[in-house]
Amino acid sequence: MNFLKFKNKKLFFENIAISKVTTRVKTPFYLYSLSQLRFNFNNFKKSFIKINPLICFSVKSNSNLKLISELKKLGSGADVVSIGELKIALKAGISPKKIVFSGVGKTEEELDFAIKKEILLINAESEAEIRAINKIAKKNNKIVSVGIRINPNISAKTNKKISTGKKDNKFGISMNVCLEIFNNQYHYEYIKFEAISVHIGSQIMDINPFKKVLNALSNFNKKINLIGINLKYIDLGGGTGIPYSNSDKKFNLKEYSNLVLKFKKTNNVEIIFEPGRSICGNTGVLISKVIYPKDAPGKKFIVIDAAMNDLIRPALYGAKHQIYPLLKNNSIVKKNTEFVGPVCESSDTFISYNKYQKLNEGDYVCIDNIGAYGRSLASNYNTRPYSAEILINKNKYKIIKQRQKLESLIN
Ligand code: LLP
Repeated sequence: MNFLKFKNKKLFFENIAISKVTTRVKTPFYLYSLSQLRFNFNNFKKSFIKINPLICFSVKSNSNLKLISELKKLGSGADVVSIGELKIALKAGISPKKIVFSGVGKTEEELDFAIKKEILLINAESEAEIRAINKIAKKNNKIVSVGIRINPNISAKTNKKISTGKKDNKFGISMNVCLEIFNNQYHYEYIKFEAISVHIGSQIMDINPFKKVLNALSNFNKKINLIGINLKYIDLGGGTGIPYSNSDKKFNLKEYSNLVLKFKKTNNVEIIFEPGRSICGNTGVLISKVIYPKDAPGKKFIVIDAAMNDLIRPALYGAKHQIYPLLKNNSIVKKNTEFVGPVCESSDTFISYNKYQKLNEGDYVCIDNIGAYGRSLASNYNTRPYSAEILINKNKYKIIKQRQKLESLIN
């Protein structure tokens, strides 16, 4: 179900014509739909109902406090990768017992805080980190639940920059080394090894990489069972992709669910998921105003007031986010039309079309599917403040994060 649609040529998110919001709020701004967020979370949960997993929303995909509080009400836990994200998850009311902490470079301060808060799992990514956890746990006189993030050396068949599960990626520990660590677990008096975790990449649309991961983990689990390690959890990470255009297929969650159900039964463990994009990707759009149309040889640029600092995915990954006008008209310009931002980089470009409707100064457009890794990857480049975040709930909307004051950057 998609809550973004045209009605009588006007673009609506839920029951609000987005043009109505532009009369009150300065562009660019991020606009989220609460119904879409709830739908996505509940849909994910329903798809895996027979597995009854702990769903830990991946806070890096969108760290807006209000959105995370709403997910908490639906039963979500959190996957965090920094003390900042951990504090946001706790502030949103998520129980520490539903929080997992991943990342290759957790500092002593971060580990100490997580250990004091007694979170569900620290997913360790190196032997050095495991030694550090043991030391800090000892200082705190606490036994800490640890998962080991496995690097299964499996290709996620996704963009290279968001692929994490090959042996030359910095993430995780090989199965051989993990086996050694389990064999020597008595070295780590203050650690209870309760889980293994895996996350091979993001925006994965093909089921096969997940199949391979499940097979590899099942084989590994059999091996460690033989040395007396019986895991409580297997954390399968996130990574399930979403369609970014009409021609993209949906990822088949049901098919994945059937595989995971079989996996859970054979391995007799609890399952954890860490979805980000599939929960919040299509819950957000970025609303922007045309500053100038600009004719150039063989093409037309539409310079809008949103830029790569608001949404870096096109520049960073070549991602294509569709752009819609807030008000459709019938005058089609049959010319290559490229949407660009005002930032002084040629990579500050969003998307090109062979033809597009005529747009003038002051017209508004909507950049789709920016709920995940939109605002959370934003920057202040070119001394541009962070844009406001607005939440729609049926026929009401409210600002859930104010636009950053420009003055706060001029100091
Ligand atoms: N768990 C771990 C350990 C992760 O590293 C990630 C994402 C997730 C879960 C959530 O993955 P998701 O379900 O959202 O695919 N900035 C990139 C994506 C980077 C993903 C990093 N890790 C982008 O905009 O495409």
